Amino acid sequence: MRKTIIIVSSFAIHIILLASIPFTSSQSNDLIDQICKKTPFYDLCSSILNSNPLAPKTDFKGVALVMVNNILTNASDTLNYIESLIKKTTDREMEKALAFCAESYIPVVKYTLPQAADAINQNRFGFASYCISDAVKEVNSCNKKFSGVGMSPLGDRNGIVQKLVDVASAIIKQLLKGLICYLLNLTSFSLV
Ligand SMILES: *[C@@H]1O[C@H](CO)[C@@H](O)[C@H](O)[C@H]1NC(C)=O
Ligand SMILES: *[C@@H]1O[C@H](CO)[C@@H](O)[C@H](O)[C@H]1NC(C)=O
Repeated sequence: MRKTIIIVSSFAIHIILLASIPFTSSQSNDLIDQICKKTPFYDLCSSILNSNPLAPKTDFKGVALVMVNNILTNASDTLNYIESLIKKTTDREMEKALAFCAESYIPVVKYTLPQAADAINQNRFGFASYCISDAVKEVNSCNKKFSGVGMSPLGDRNGIVQKLVDVASAIIKQLLKGLICYLLNLTSFSLV
């Protein structure tokens, strides 16, 4: 019993340590580069992270947070845009499609992305990953409403949000994978 407690608390300490491990300065310059290379849209990822003065150059978790907050801003703006189009359009079908998109975006902006940010803050990377994959689904379903219509009334806004959530998803998966590998390695070493 006592041993279990010691093992469990040592795991907890390691998780906390891992989350706060600053990468050494020799690695720091290309941390953003390394992270973005493992996402589907390298240019988008590195332009956002390199242009944001808040993006930490040495902290993986901080980078993930900056990306999620960036999507939140972008998706909120897209939702406002959708709502303004709904007010303007006189086309019934278009209005329906836009309303569908607004319904997809509202939970993403109000709940899913803020929850993902909270989860990253609390080192709950598995839950963060789940939230982001949910956001990916919602944004994709909006996009499908306009496929075949020719020009989407949202222009490339929805497409950008779609790419951003794909990038965030890839970043959080890296965090999760790093954590799991770290814990597995730790376990195998403590068993020896
Ligand atoms: C959304 O993201 C795109 C691509 O990074 C950028 O060009 C655009 O300005 C962003 N919009 C907002 C409101 O942040
Ligand atoms: C696994 O743990 C050992 C001992 O702590 C360490 O030397 C090694 O670099 C670790 N490997 C990985 C892939 O983290």
